Amino acid sequence: MKTWLQALPKVELHLHIEGSLEPELMFALAERNNIALPYASVEDVQAAYDFSDLQSFLDLYYLGMRVLRTERDFYDLAMAYLERAHGEGVVHVELSFDPQAHLSRGVELAVPFEGLRLAMREAERRWGMTTALIMSFLRDRDAEEAMAVLEKAAPYYEVIDAVGLDSAEMGNPPAKFAEVFERAKALGIPRVAHAGEEGPAAYISEALDVLDICRVDHGVACLEDAMLVERLRKSQVPLTVCPLSNVRLKVVETLRDHPLPTMLAHGVKITLNSDDPAYFGGGVLDNFVACAEAFDWDRDTFRQLAGNAIEVAFMPESRRQALLKQLAAC
Ligand code: ADE
Ligand code: ZN
Repeated sequence: MKTWLQALPKVELHLHIEGSLEPELMFALAERNNIALPYASVEDVQAAYDFSDLQSFLDLYYLGMRVLRTERDFYDLAMAYLERAHGEGVVHVELSFDPQAHLSRGVELAVPFEGLRLAMREAERRWGMTTALIMSFLRDRDAEEAMAVLEKAAPYYEVIDAVGLDSAEMGNPPAKFAEVFERAKALGIPRVAHAGEEGPAAYISEALDVLDICRVDHGVACLEDAMLVERLRKSQVPLTVCPLSNVRLKVVETLRDHPLPTMLAHGVKITLNSDDPAYFGGGVLDNFVACAEAFDWDRDTFRQLAGNAIEVAFMPESRRQALLKQLAAC
């Protein structure tokens, strides 16, 4: 199964590029930029990645990304990830990034944009891999700051495929960002948001109603609300589920306890993604393989999941058709 899953044309829709920072590169960039890390070794870092919930992860995620200071750092980060993804049979990656987490450290908006874009172009040139860029807002900071970032990003509107919403979910409901997302909509920028990861099903409904999102990141809490499940089934709004992330952040106890099979049985449009691969035990292929082992899914199920991601990705129609053809031959 693993060999077959490797060859399947996989599309990654939910990936925080800062969450792809492997400990080895963290140390290399810390040295290059003369930044002190609270870790003595790679093993020390790995030992620290024992999370009790989303916040305990976010604390280390923001700590780790302090080593990212220059365009070259962001280029190296993204290139390393895209190369690994290419090796796993990933053919299209949507990179999300958190500009506020960099601006607050004095790293200007142009730095991540330019560095990431250079790597995205390089991946297309080297491997024919396509990519998209999602600029995410931090929901645990105020909406005025998010609005200011959106305005500041004006020179990059053409290269932003969507805006997103992430960070600590509980107590930061989608409606807090109603105006920011309204402005993005007026600018013609598609919208996605994390909802129902740690937060309740009501946050998923609110994100759909108030933020007018085209995809839900995570959304695993949807089963709490039968009417919401029916809405998701009818509308086929996709959910970018991240199984290994949910295990590592204790959203579920083990992968076997994950609601994925029930969500699929209800006809919800599911995709499989890695979220923060350096922190959660692997990339897209690892997530596919783990699901194969936990749920004993057959090839048709994986064809459906891979096909769902191709169908809803931010990519040109010609590319979508080519990938669907490639998938049909698997
Ligand atoms: N930022 C990076 N990873 C995240 C996650 N899993 N949930 C919310 N915000 C995040
Ligand atoms: Zn995420």
